[in-house]
Amino acid sequence: MDFSKKIINWYKKNHRKLPWRKTTNPYYILVSEFMLQQTRVSQTIIKSYLNFIKKFPNLEKLAQAEEKDVLKKWEGLGYYSRAKYLHSFAKKLKNGKNFFPVKYQELIKYKGIGPYTGAAVASICFHEIIPAIDGNACRVFSRYFGISNNITSSTTKNMFRIIVSKIIDFEHPGIFNQAIMDLGSILCTPKNPKCFLCPIKNSCFSIQNGTVHKFPVKKIKKFIKHRFFYYIFIRDRNKNICLNKRFNKDIWRGLYDFPLIESKKNLSIHEIIDKIWKIFQIVIYNTSIYKIEHKLTHQILSIRFINCETLQDLKKNILFDNFFLYHLIK
Ligand code: ADE
Repeated sequence: MDFSKKIINWYKKNHRKLPWRKTTNPYYILVSEFMLQQTRVSQTIIKSYLNFIKKFPNLEKLAQAEEKDVLKKWEGLGYYSRAKYLHSFAKKLKNGKNFFPVKYQELIKYKGIGPYTGAAVASICFHEIIPAIDGNACRVFSRYFGISNNITSSTTKNMFRIIVSKIIDFEHPGIFNQAIMDLGSILCTPKNPKCFLCPIKNSCFSIQNGTVHKFPVKKIKKFIKHRFFYYIFIRDRNKNICLNKRFNKDIWRGLYDFPLIESKKNLSIHEIIDKIWKIFQIVIYNTSIYKIEHKLTHQILSIRFINCETLQDLKKNILFDNFFLYHLIK
């Protein structure tokens, strides 16, 4: 039996029962793939997917929705730019009275649809023979073929696309791609892979050469930036707090956070209070700090929430334009 038949037979018996697997409707598949970008399947994703398609059951409904309602249904999933791109895709199709693009090359012209999402949608919904190569697939194939190239590079991903297009199942490319996703998350896991259960163990380079733990090779950029964020939670006696509406042209545009002081170095509480005075002309009489360290691939975020109380009444006129007051009910 060849590679793809073994993988597909294994998938038929062992696949994860996920709600988006019950359909090949491209809208539903696109929503699920947007939600799954850089994210693992979880109960949160499943619940959000079901809520999202209940609220926006088709492209028309999504295109007619207001952005704030779309973002509301994305709450808890993070990476809100994905919701914005999905919404803009729906609006572009509906405004232009276009049909859903059925080809990979058409799909990837839209913002937010990268090679992986484009390949997943084109193969699952339209049977296009195109490998969907994400981190899971890179791990499976680098172990299976013994490929030591850096999987974070797009050149390596292209190499995988070329190799895998020779072994993908021509009749069921969508099932093949999903079978690789499931093999990667059920058996060929980053830690403690269950090779003894693997349907392709007899031809796997890494099992034969004892190199399963050497692959995949990931070279992460050496330069790691350390940033210090001080979020200022200012509250007055009337339970008014100060919020900030983000206006920078970034993925958080239009969302709310607390006023932020960013620094390249760690600041003492006195330095922070001094900065608060310079920015807001507000005297703080009581503070406490809550700390979070957040490690990303190329930056470390040291985040401090500074809980500040002031005896002055917070008023719109003492704050900057993009800051505004919010009254805490409790
Ligand atoms: N990760 C990305 N796409 C997926 C899918 N369709 N099913 C399960 N996990 C995924």
